[in-house]
Amino acid sequence: MALYAIGDTHLSLNSNKSMEVFGPGWEDYVERLRSGFSCVQPGDTVVLCGDLSWGMSLEESREDFAFLNSLPGKKLLLKGNHDYWWTTASKMNAFFAENGFDTLSILHNNCALYGDVALCGTRGWFYEEERGEHSQKIFDRELIRLEASLKAAGEREKLCFFHYPPMCVGFRCDQIIDLMKSYGVSTCCYGHLHGASHRFAVEGKHGDIDYKFVAADFLGFQPEKICE
Ligand SMILES: [Fe+2]
Ligand SMILES: [Fe+2]
Repeated sequence: MALYAIGDTHLSLNSNKSMEVFGPGWEDYVERLRSGFSCVQPGDTVVLCGDLSWGMSLEESREDFAFLNSLPGKKLLLKGNHDYWWTTASKMNAFFAENGFDTLSILHNNCALYGDVALCGTRGWFYEEERGEHSQKIFDRELIRLEASLKAAGEREKLCFFHYPPMCVGFRCDQIIDLMKSYGVSTCCYGHLHGASHRFAVEGKHGDIDYKFVAADFLGFQPEKICE
């Protein structure tokens, strides 16, 4: 049994937003994802750190979910800034059940258990969001979601997953990092940064937290093993 993470699959099987227009880094990415997942066994778990499908609704994303469902392992889905299909947990879970996508579940306002370890997380917040009058509200909501997820973990060891980086070169979100610290989070995975922005990613141990950057185009479309 192993735990993996990868973000930013940016699938577009039923729409015309293929990432291949972004150059060689994304060339043939659907097939690269399929072969990248060959390291994953059916009993493993993969956290998908947001920006998963370009579909504008669950219906439009159906083919993308069918693809993700066909990959090995149990997949936990986190929201990214481009997941416009995202709706209420009950609607998403019902849609997955109706379509037989039985390896997909949502990580939102809760935590999932991986053995004795709790998998927590939320979309997070980034300086790009710093616009419009609702940004403070969005940020406050993300902090509440994160704390709800960390609380749900109780005394268990906690790993935390985000779409947005809690910190990168030139950016640090103290409130999110402080929350992780106060709940004793040991490892933090995030995605979102692409192409030339890979150079802003921060990895390794900072304070007591080990940061891992898992955007698919950075990982060569192979999920990163987080632990056994
Ligand atoms: Fe992305
Ligand atoms: Fe993103």
